[in-house]
Amino acid sequence: MTTSDRPTRRAVLVKIGILLNAAVGAVLAVPVLRYVLSPVTRQRKQGDGAWVSLGSLEKFPAGQTRLATYQHPSATPSDGETAETPCWVRHLQGDTFQIFAINCAHLGCPVRWFPQSNLFMCPCHGGVYYQDGSRASGPPERGMFEYSYKVEQGMLLIKAGEMPTPGAQASLSKGSSPCATSSSRSSSCA
Ligand code: FES
Repeated sequence: MTTSDRPTRRAVLVKIGILLNAAVGAVLAVPVLRYVLSPVTRQRKQGDGAWVSLGSLEKFPAGQTRLATYQHPSATPSDGETAETPCWVRHLQGDTFQIFAINCAHLGCPVRWFPQSNLFMCPCHGGVYYQDGSRASGPPERGMFEYSYKVEQGMLLIKAGEMPTPGAQASLSKGSSPCATSSSRSSSCA
């Protein structure tokens, strides 16, 4: 090999730089790709799709909206109080309910129920929802998310393993239907 055939130090350094940049780019791309693809690649965790009790029907008087909490089915002992998940329960009549996720459909802040005005309001950016969870005003582009539910032996149960968000619906659609069975219902399945 003649001197002119040998790669110059500059060329070698450029190649090493390109390789290092490619390696760093690949490492940085992994979490981004995982996030983007998570709705379709997410594995079902233990507890996904589990029916969880919110308590007896007597806790939820007809015509009223009450706050309820449940223990997330995939919680571990180390989760402590964070495993307690709140939701809003609207009892229309008989066995007809609407169970709303507490998180705003905009960026997820917990919404509050104001019975004086029959509105749910979000403290973060002023999102407002009607009592049936439909959007009234503000930045949310849709109504509140609803859980599937059913009534069994005087107890109100919700499908609590997945938060009722669009991502959860996409993930669930890989397995069983996110819609409730004939003895239960959710607005997304109406
Ligand atoms: Fe509720 Fe933005 S998070 S309006």
